[in-house]
Amino acid sequence: MKIITRTDALKEAIGNARGEDRTIGFVPTMGALHDGHLSLIRASLSNGDFLVVSIFVNPTQFNDPNDLEHYPRNMKSDLDLLKNYPVDLVFTPEVEEMYPEKDTRVFDLAPFDSIMEGKYRPGHFNGVAQIVSKLFYAVMPDRAYFGQKDFQQLAVIRKLVSILRLDIEIIGCPIIREKDGLAMSSRNKLLSKAGRAAAPFIYQTLQKAVQMKQSHTPEEVREYVISEINNHPLMETEYFEIVEDQNIHSVKSWKTKANIIGCIAVQLNGLRLIDNVYFH
Ligand code: PAJ
Repeated sequence: MKIITRTDALKEAIGNARGEDRTIGFVPTMGALHDGHLSLIRASLSNGDFLVVSIFVNPTQFNDPNDLEHYPRNMKSDLDLLKNYPVDLVFTPEVEEMYPEKDTRVFDLAPFDSIMEGKYRPGHFNGVAQIVSKLFYAVMPDRAYFGQKDFQQLAVIRKLVSILRLDIEIIGCPIIREKDGLAMSSRNKLLSKAGRAAAPFIYQTLQKAVQMKQSHTPEEVREYVISEINNHPLMETEYFEIVEDQNIHSVKSWKTKANIIGCIAVQLNGLRLIDNVYFH
């Protein structure tokens, strides 16, 4: 496992792998690795890719400076964890390497950047598009792996690849959960004991919502989820929306052929946790 901090060295190492006829797989991360990240790594390895993992806490996607400051960073334990897998390259650039100059690019990510995450985290997806485009240009993978946990991000990445006309296959991977149902997230490490004990309630409520589909309209299910979460003493819903997964249009009736997903963001302990569930 080679650890590389500079883009030119990264390109050279990947060029060599291409010379050996390997397909390149890429898993971008912000570190504080957990089993959700590892599932993307396993997916890439199962495709036989020459595997590049990046670890970079990207400042331009944090709309809240406090969140950036407290984002968990554990480079040593991340690298120790990755050594258990046949990862070929780990790219761990400094901020100056990725942003030698201010990135002023603005991407048209509509409709994904205006509701749910887009509405509550202004500028977030543009920052994601800035860094992922730079990483894609550097790595030029055949396949890149992203988690369904960040459903809107996955949609934004697919749109980015289309905008930039990149020949990269985007592979979405299922949400990995703790045994109690909480969706794994680097931010979970920041929860207090009481917060961590409460957090599985989010997924429990989403599961109940899916059961309610038989006898309730989408709007009734939406109201139920919001009131359940808001009645919890430690939680506050930021949003819960039931939308079609391709165009994120709000769903008025279950009678559509489109796949329907419910997406939630919850404030707990001063942290925001996101999760989602498919209705069909
Ligand atoms: P990060 O939050 O570190 O996540 C890296 C990848 O892991 C993302 O594709 C995310 O969806 C996936 N992931 C996180 N938790 C998961 C879980 N419980 N199950 C399955 N996959 C999970 O997302 C980012 O970093 C950044 O925005 C990035 C794309 C690296 C750009 O900076």
